[in-house]
Amino acid sequence: MKLMSKQVILTGIRANNDLTIGNYFGAILPMIDMATTRAEEFQVNLFVPDLHSFTTPINHRELQSAIWNNLRIFVAAGLPLDQPDIHIYRQSYIPAHSEMTWIIDCFVGMGELGRMTQFKEKSYKEDESKSGEDRVRVGLFNYPVLMAADILLYNATYVPVGDDQTQHLEFTRDIAERLNNKFDQELFTIPKPVKEQHEFFGKDQGLRIKDLQDPTKKMSKSDESGKGVIFLNDSPELAAKKVMSATTDSVGQVNLDWENQPGISNLLQILALFQHRSIEEVASEWQGNTQYGEFKKTVADAVKGFLVDLQDKLAQVDDSAVKTKLEASEAAMDKVAGETLLKTQKAVGLR
Ligand code: TYM
Repeated sequence: MKLMSKQVILTGIRANNDLTIGNYFGAILPMIDMATTRAEEFQVNLFVPDLHSFTTPINHRELQSAIWNNLRIFVAAGLPLDQPDIHIYRQSYIPAHSEMTWIIDCFVGMGELGRMTQFKEKSYKEDESKSGEDRVRVGLFNYPVLMAADILLYNATYVPVGDDQTQHLEFTRDIAERLNNKFDQELFTIPKPVKEQHEFFGKDQGLRIKDLQDPTKKMSKSDESGKGVIFLNDSPELAAKKVMSATTDSVGQVNLDWENQPGISNLLQILALFQHRSIEEVASEWQGNTQYGEFKKTVADAVKGFLVDLQDKLAQVDDSAVKTKLEASEAAMDKVAGETLLKTQKAVGLR
């Protein structure tokens, strides 16, 4: 009962490769901030959506270690394990996620899912060789529905995600409203609109850290070369090198100008995040500086310092404490998700 009375803040981080600073600042850090400052008021669910891991091809032999890497990173980043209303869990350990996905699937149009930007982008990439392992998977098409189930099963109100997931959050709201209306009852809590989500997390917009080599695209863990991506498990020296060789421009002076100087603007963004300051503040400090080398060195040092500290904490994570917390959370969340599923099964006539 106590669990249901608090509002829920929830997010999931896939484990299909090493995590990046995009994942860290886009989703992990906002969750840790909430968990460390507001766990009295809110229930905090940070989970590993393991069923989402192979919507695109992965090495399945590495999945278990990737899942554990995520869990350890949550703890190293500061997630407290000793609070009763903070939960960590693996999606596939709670079967209601899959069952709810099927039910929701039957109320969603093909066109709606086909319009999802992420599907269009990723399927375009995969589509180049239309056979075997590389063909576009139904799972990739369908995954916003699984994501909606992840959110709705726990009646989540706030869902911190990076900019690339905003559309899926809007979709989740649509589905919740649609089913509540159709079955004339409050089956699901409708997550707050995206704008209110940003306000809640103290931002004016969704975060999108760009690739260091190609600052017109998102920094992504599934990037093949990884040269423009800072992974949380990169050696601090390698990460610093990646920053030093980041693509800039020929303007020759630092300005916050996403259109004409996306590389420099991205580095300003990254520096601001590491210094816990606003991008405007950092930009005004560097504005007009013509020493790109000096600027990059400052960013590289900030990245390096952060990774040294995080990896040090990572080495100290106690796996048995994580396992104990994980099992307790999975048992508790199975009950919560089971209740929402049962309510839905009754509404659609299955029970
Ligand atoms: P995933 O695993 O790809 O990414 C995890 C989170 O990191 C954010 N992110 C970024 N933020 C800013 N800049 C970037 N370059 C960057 N790259 C990634 C993502 O926006 C995301 O918030 N479908 C989700 C996982 C998921 C989920 C959920 C999230 C499954 N079920 C339920 C919330 C609620 C995904 O693939 O994120």
